Amino acid sequence: MTIFSVQSTIFSRASVALLSSNGFKRFSFASSFSSAAVYSPPLPKMKKRRYPIVSAVDIGGVTIARNDVVREDDPTNNVPDSIFSKLGVQLHRRDKHPIGIIKNAIYDYFDNNYSKMFDKIEDLSPIVTTKQNFDDVLVPADHVSRSLNDTYYVDSQTVLRCHTSAHQAELLRKGHRRFLVTGDVYRRDSIDSTHYPVFHQMEGFCVFSPEDWKESGMDSTLYAAEDLKKCLEGLASHLFGAVEMRWVDTYFPFTNPSFELEIYFKDDWLEVLGCGVTEQGILKQSGLENNVAWAFGLGLERLAMVLFDIPDIRLFWSDDERFTSQFAEGDFGVKFKPFSKYPPCYKDISFWISESFTENNFCEVVRGIAGDLVEESKVRDEVESKLNVELR
Ligand code: PHE
Repeated sequence: MTIFSVQSTIFSRASVALLSSNGFKRFSFASSFSSAAVYSPPLPKMKKRRYPIVSAVDIGGVTIARNDVVREDDPTNNVPDSIFSKLGVQLHRRDKHPIGIIKNAIYDYFDNNYSKMFDKIEDLSPIVTTKQNFDDVLVPADHVSRSLNDTYYVDSQTVLRCHTSAHQAELLRKGHRRFLVTGDVYRRDSIDSTHYPVFHQMEGFCVFSPEDWKESGMDSTLYAAEDLKKCLEGLASHLFGAVEMRWVDTYFPFTNPSFELEIYFKDDWLEVLGCGVTEQGILKQSGLENNVAWAFGLGLERLAMVLFDIPDIRLFWSDDERFTSQFAEGDFGVKFKPFSKYPPCYKDISFWISESFTENNFCEVVRGIAGDLVEESKVRDEVESKLNVELR
């Protein structure tokens, strides 16, 4: 409030000062004000359902009704409305969204380095069977990821995929040998700036034949592991240029050996992908027992946070124009500029000026009064008048 009354004082003064000239121009400025330049989403209103109940969503042309996925009276179901509303959003298919931009940048890397030999699949439904999500990739029967605590269950045999690895087996069975599968994945998880119950993964899978490694004189597993690391290090430098990264040995039920790649981001090591040499049991299911393969699963949000300097994973779901307008198709060189946690407040101001008055003069006046509270000032309109005003 104070800000605006101060402003109106200034502009009436400006108008007076400008009235003595012959040619009149009227400038209209729009300024948006803010305070703290750090994002934090507004608090939910207590006692009110925060998410509107969506009755159906569209996933790749297939309509899924809310009742198919959210069943409050079924103890084997733990999908809330907040999660149902994310089905079918498919941020990875928006070319101007950071998740879509990073996906396309990874596609470019694979197209250029592997002469388009990787098939790209990105519209598979996130509703999968427990067989696809767990059994087909050798997740043990007692593994924690199978619990209702970690995974969203639609019913005892159907889940929201918790990783894109859920599609490895079916794609191998269909005959794919090198592929990239991208999609939204769902996990019940802790709350912090790098975790969100829905995020996006890209799975990479590459099958080798005996000729490939025999030529190198290497053991097949070692050959695949080296090829995998070389591929992912190349990808990291394609995306980030010089960035500090490290390999960490780990365990996945579907790969052996298994690794994680971590990137140094905001004073800490951030895990951005898991990968490894595929367990023979998975290849055998598709008659590929004489082959060797590698696989990786990349977290697209994590990569995008590092690439674009996005401090909070919740921002990816924002429709706020101050977020969405910062990104452009194909441009992965931009850095995110934080904006106010408050909604923008626009002020349109018009006044008469002389020909010598410039936009910068106006900005100086604004800065002098409101300092850094003003985020942007734009000339919206100009009107010229031939009126001659005589001053007495
Ligand atoms: N599916 C694993 C995860 O979500 C990532 C991964 C994919 C690891 C493929 C190894 C191979 O964490």
